[in-house]
Amino acid sequence: MRQMLTAAAIATFPLLQPMIANADDAIKQAVEARHGYYAMLSMNMSTLAGMAKGDVAYDEAAASRAAANIEALTHYDLPGLFVEGSASGQVEGSAAKAEIWTDMDDFKAKFAGLVEAAAGAAEAVKGGQDQVGPVVGKLGAACKACHDSYREKS
Ligand code: HEC
Repeated sequence: MRQMLTAAAIATFPLLQPMIANADDAIKQAVEARHGYYAMLSMNMSTLAGMAKGDVAYDEAAASRAAANIEALTHYDLPGLFVEGSASGQVEGSAAKAEIWTDMDDFKAKFAGLVEAAAGAAEAVKGGQDQVGPVVGKLGAACKACHDSYREKS
């Protein structure tokens, strides 16, 4: 009965269908999800970097919002998206080095480095254009520390 109800629910709500994935799809979805995650990080970093360099006029509210977005993203369990079988060479589109899975504790420590760099960023970028550079520097160093070890160079 329960199964029939589930089948009926799935038939009634086609939107649920993509969520019912087989293992291969689950891996592809994890890779897509982390690419989406990084795209969001990048977008907000670009906003901050542009203001730090002076390419974009400093706008306190916009800077704080971008930094808050990055801070919020660091509350998401990014390492959880690095599922088994999703290293580069194992699935199309992945640039994740195999070392992530052999050094998972260190990979998580690199993510913790980003969490720490982002903490308080939304406040730290307030008060003027010269506040933005140091935050961008701290965040950028945390991105680079992880990429240097765990991201394939393209
Ligand atoms: C804990 C490790 C880690 C941290 C911290 C990290 N990255 Fe990455 N990043 C990776 C890995 C691994 C990949 C490759 C993922 C893949 O291809 O599945 C990647 C890929 C990317 C990509 C390419 C995504 C794509 O669509 O191919 C961008 C852009 C990116 N990171 C931006 C950033 C920015 C900006 C930061 C800092 C604000 C950051 N990353 C912090 C590990 C990290």
